[in-house]
Amino acid sequence: MHDSLMNTTFCVRTFGCQMNKHDSERVCGMLEALGSELVEDIEHADIVVFMTCCVREAADVRLLGQAASLKNIPLREGSPLAKRIVAVGGCIGQRDGEKLTKELPHLDVVFGTHNLASLPRLVREAIEQGGHHVEVLDESLDFPTSLPTAREHAWAAWLPITIGCNNFCTYCIVPYVRGREKSRPLEDIANEARGYVLSGVKEITLLGQNVNSYGRDLYGKPRFADVLDAVSASGVERIRFATSHPKDLTDEVIAKFAELPNLMPALHLPVQSGSNRILAAMNRRYTREHYLELVRKVREACPDIALSTDIIVGFPGETEEDFQQTYDLVREVGYHQVFTFIYSKREGTPAAEMPDDTPREVIQERFDRLVDLVQEGAWQANQPDAGTIVPVLVEGASKRDEHVLSGRSPKNQTVHFRLPDGAGADDWSGRTVNVRVTEAKTWYLSGELEGDPSEAGR
Ligand code: 5AD
Ligand code: SF4
Repeated sequence: MHDSLMNTTFCVRTFGCQMNKHDSERVCGMLEALGSELVEDIEHADIVVFMTCCVREAADVRLLGQAASLKNIPLREGSPLAKRIVAVGGCIGQRDGEKLTKELPHLDVVFGTHNLASLPRLVREAIEQGGHHVEVLDESLDFPTSLPTAREHAWAAWLPITIGCNNFCTYCIVPYVRGREKSRPLEDIANEARGYVLSGVKEITLLGQNVNSYGRDLYGKPRFADVLDAVSASGVERIRFATSHPKDLTDEVIAKFAELPNLMPALHLPVQSGSNRILAAMNRRYTREHYLELVRKVREACPDIALSTDIIVGFPGETEEDFQQTYDLVREVGYHQVFTFIYSKREGTPAAEMPDDTPREVIQERFDRLVDLVQEGAWQANQPDAGTIVPVLVEGASKRDEHVLSGRSPKNQTVHFRLPDGAGADDWSGRTVNVRVTEAKTWYLSGELEGDPSEAGR
């Protein structure tokens, strides 16, 4: 094959969100299809691919550090290449393009979010010609459906249903680096879901920056509820989705939590702030009251649902009173999980131009207060599960003790349990077993296998 990468090795380092993780699985699939072998350590890799994120500044800094340190790591003995090929893709590649090769002269390849499929060609060109190979497109030509994927777990699959975002929350860089929202045809999604089920996948996670606005750009305007119906009909054991925007979460979708037995009782519904003034400045287009009403309706449809959210502390102009409203909302909702972020200024976004004079220490103190509340809330939210039996989709054995397995409950809680004496630890991942929960902690449940282990989850 002309562009074969036979006898080479590669590794991928992924930053950021699930969409990036999914893109990385595609990178692995494409490079493996050309004969390159995936390795864990950078030292053993002839080709290193960074899938980057620029949602917050910390990720930028980490990329620069990791990519810079590569210069000092020699190429492995026996490599067929003359030098290691370093490629940067994802959101920073998209945002910075050519500029990155000025900051990091030893980069060989830069690609963006719209041209994942070009990576093998760019790598090949870099190997054959040397020099920098930068290709960043303004827009995806099509929904990239046909690239091979190498999934991390055989029994779990991510299924992108939309790419891009049209919402322009004022703090967020995503619409600038992932482009306008494009939906994937319903038939494609249904086919992919059926294919996954046939190949043994037990859990499908539907992905999009805002899955609830699915279909507005498609003929016939299919809705997200239709996607849920179609994927549910594939017969897959578990369905999850991320992320939902509160302004677009419909009653029809909420009703699906009661209707579809394979839609898991867990909803990630980012609120960002509990203050109407800050929500307006963020261009979120809902109010605190609307959000709380959604929570009420979701719980009415599915009383035992686990809710999770994202919160930004220290948005420009946030006062103590604004923060207090966020704090109160978090207490009122009682989340299973809250992802807390300190506001990070992103050049080119509207919020970067807003006056921002709150001292760093004040923001940090608010953040710490919120984190304490979040931990207390997570512990509380897990308590009702102590003493119950939960079906756990097993992910694998603990690194320290192969007789301790962990997996996920329907509510997406991590569950640890010990195998009975004599049971082998090897082939449990991807099986669903019943676990009697003996203890509910802040970030996990622990328990014991219920029933005969030889029968479990077969
Ligand atoms: N600063 C801090 N947090 C941010 N997020 C997005 N942009 C920023 C930013 N500039 C958070 C939001 C979003 C999550 C994925 O990242 O909470 O929901
Ligand atoms: Fe960013 Fe808002 Fe789009 Fe989410 S909905 S990706 S926060 S602009």
